Amino acid sequence: MASLHVGGFTSMASAAGTLRPLGHATAFPVSATAAASRILYVTPETADFVKAGGLGDVSAALPRALRAAQCDVRILIPGYRQLLRRCNGVEIAGRLDGLAGIPPCEIAQVRMPDGLIAYIVLAPGLYDRDGTPYGNAMGGDWGDNDLRFARLALAAADIAGGRSGLSWRPNLLHLNDWPTALAAGYAAWRNVSVASLLTIHNLAYQGLFDPDRLGRLGIPADAFTIDGVEFHGKVSFLKAGIAFASEISTVSSTYAQEITTAELGCGLDGLLRVRAGEGRLTGIINGIDPSWDPSRGDGLASPFDSQDLSGKERNAEQVRADFRLAVSRGPLFAVVSRLVHQKGLDLMIGAAETVVRAGGQIAIMGQGEPAVERELGALANRHRGEIALKVGFDEAEARCMFAGSDFLMMPSRFEPCGLSQMYAQRFGSLPIARRTGGLADSIEDGLTGFLFRPISVEACLEAVTRAFNAFSNRDVFMAMRRSAMARNFGWAKPALGYQQIYARAIESFPQQRVA
Ligand code: ADP
Ligand code: GLC
Repeated sequence: MASLHVGGFTSMASAAGTLRPLGHATAFPVSATAAASRILYVTPETADFVKAGGLGDVSAALPRALRAAQCDVRILIPGYRQLLRRCNGVEIAGRLDGLAGIPPCEIAQVRMPDGLIAYIVLAPGLYDRDGTPYGNAMGGDWGDNDLRFARLALAAADIAGGRSGLSWRPNLLHLNDWPTALAAGYAAWRNVSVASLLTIHNLAYQGLFDPDRLGRLGIPADAFTIDGVEFHGKVSFLKAGIAFASEISTVSSTYAQEITTAELGCGLDGLLRVRAGEGRLTGIINGIDPSWDPSRGDGLASPFDSQDLSGKERNAEQVRADFRLAVSRGPLFAVVSRLVHQKGLDLMIGAAETVVRAGGQIAIMGQGEPAVERELGALANRHRGEIALKVGFDEAEARCMFAGSDFLMMPSRFEPCGLSQMYAQRFGSLPIARRTGGLADSIEDGLTGFLFRPISVEACLEAVTRAFNAFSNRDVFMAMRRSAMARNFGWAKPALGYQQIYARAIESFPQQRVA
């Protein structure tokens, strides 16, 4: 994790002084509007401080890729207890009033070692507690998540509205998932003229609350309609974002199309079809950050590259030892995943018997729904020495698993983007995955991995069989590994895509173009 030093806010000039100057050489032409954009990247998690899944990785990487492309981007995040512990004390840079049941807050500013500025929402009554960003250690959501994330969203809108005392003001809010989506609504209800982009990382999480919360959230009663925040009798934070944001994006082209269908639209497909028809729904695939380089060896037992893959074997030995798997020359399958229904691990469980019988082993790491954890635990008990489960998550160990495994199992029912399959390919582990969302867009079937479509154990087994066949032919297998490792999953191209959306959205708020 990045160690931080704290930079107290003094003036916009001094804050901007550590950002790369405009005009610095860039790989892409940037329009005048994009260069003039000031982006507040609002997120409930970032790997710099605290992460629960892929959104944390994206929130750490994309703002940096944007800065490298001349964008003035800063992040806004709640001051969770674990985040403030990493900061060694903070200086207050601004203050905001409360609204209805939402308490007032202070805004702290922290400058990361690489110059990226984070604004932190300080509201101890909401954020100073042990647990994840979303709930307690047992996995249950916090009962006041409506207030916790309304506080974050309102802070974003009010910073844009110039109410915070900060001398830096964004001209676009880049919102991420339901915990931030209400910011587009607050901006509309409080007459803040700021462009906004809502990126949907996962449509299945919508932030639904009982309508009796409307009052304490300061949401106008007349916004509780089918064109506003109402969703089947509940208040939907995500729908507020889709209704009010200038632009909507999601994290792969295929998922952008899938969420406009009844099958994967989670009840919001009608509205999303309207946005798509208006040209305001875009799919931009995620990238992975430069630390995912097997030759750098971060967290690995041994570094390697596509010319010399011998290091992969040492990583495999390490994984087998860590998971107490028997010594074997058979293929090693990895699962690195949140253990939730979305990830389709029941298909993997259905295929596991065959994998073991054919001489394969499976190392599983993750945590999530207790029922999924129990089923995987039972599977590992039935196949001691051949299948092992570690409940929890450890970044270095995850890297070693991508590096040491031959295959990554990722049979997700749906997958907006997915990062694990990209990490795996970069580390020469071929993904076996469903042809959906970002998996379909980032894996080349038969070349860099194995895709199957039906949500069935049979279809999964067919892909597993193809994987075993490839493994048994060393030339084919090595060629696939090298193709996978050569894939370009960099952030430069996606960052350019975001800049184009920013420019379009800011154009629709012309008064905001002048600082
Ligand atoms: P998702 O965001 O749906 O979990 P992704 O593939 O986009 O899926 O991102 C997964 C990221 O989260 C990877 O960096 C992975 O190593 C990490 N990860 C997986 N399981 C956990 C967990 N239980 N806690 C924290 N991070 C996890
Ligand atoms: C969500 C999605 C995942 C995506 C990640 C980052 O967690 O489930 O597919 O990669 O967000 O965008």
